[in-house]
Amino acid sequence: MQNSIASKGKGILAMDESNATCGKRLESIGLENTEANRQAYRQLLVTTPGLGDYISGAILFEETLYQSTTDGRTMVDCLNANGIIPGIKVDKGLVPLTGSNNESWCQGLDGLASRTAAYYKQGARFAKWRTVVSIPNGPSELAVTEAAWGLARYASICQDNGLAPIVEPEILLDGDHGIDRTLEVASKVWSKVFYFLAENNVLFEGILLKPSMVTPGAECKERATPEQVAQYTLNMLKRRVPPAVPGIMFLSGGQSEVEATLNLNAMNQSPNPWHVSFSYARALQNSVLKTWKGQPENVEAAQRALLVRAKANSLAQLGKYSA
Ligand code: 13P
Repeated sequence: MQNSIASKGKGILAMDESNATCGKRLESIGLENTEANRQAYRQLLVTTPGLGDYISGAILFEETLYQSTTDGRTMVDCLNANGIIPGIKVDKGLVPLTGSNNESWCQGLDGLASRTAAYYKQGARFAKWRTVVSIPNGPSELAVTEAAWGLARYASICQDNGLAPIVEPEILLDGDHGIDRTLEVASKVWSKVFYFLAENNVLFEGILLKPSMVTPGAECKERATPEQVAQYTLNMLKRRVPPAVPGIMFLSGGQSEVEATLNLNAMNQSPNPWHVSFSYARALQNSVLKTWKGQPENVEAAQRALLVRAKANSLAQLGKYSA
């Protein structure tokens, strides 16, 4: 499964926004956060003709895994018909980590074995668990340990139930720190994540990673070029991630659409030990939403906008993108 997702020129469409986050996206184009609007939007995404040429997997929120299109096909069937493997977000979101420096931890381990078994029956073949680490708030030893341990338990439970786990400790972009500080924190986080993955007997060949790129903080005045981002990120990953892991699928984390594509392209200018690709939400969907605006007559144009970004990132996976 993880090997089919990590195939040449392909990446993941992250469309697993929780209902609350999806509501924020809909609000940005003046739509109410109703189930019907979420359905219309997700239907637009999964029925985009030819999307499977660039996208190998799509991560769904639970609502979408069990949802049908307005003409009665399941969203899962639409994805499969497009040659796209359905995945599922299985974490239950972030809550305050008491005893820390205003940091968070990720909930969702209770009942995860039975939920993942049910998601598999419903057609999901891979899973995602996103936890976050904040640089301005620490990160404290406690927050990093909690994040890494949670990811490792989740990955083990998924593998036991037939889902390939995506391991995602997102290092948030917020802050005015420089790129060297991000490198230091990312190195620390990934060393703990792999320590606990090994302690929990997770099969490395059966996971995918979803890291943040190593960049300066969003408010840092000194910006980095795509070549610098690629060099920092790959150095960090080569020091921390075994080559047994088949795929590295980056999140976009608030980068602009073109920035995320250029950075990925720079990482694929020379061979890597893994398939280095994308698992973007915002960097694939921003122009889709703006083009759609909730109007049925804009659906085709919005689907074309999705294909433009998907194709650009597919080329970036091959190291062949130019802006
Ligand atoms: P962004 O690409 O918008 O950061 O989202 C990816 C994702 O799925 C975060 O979990």
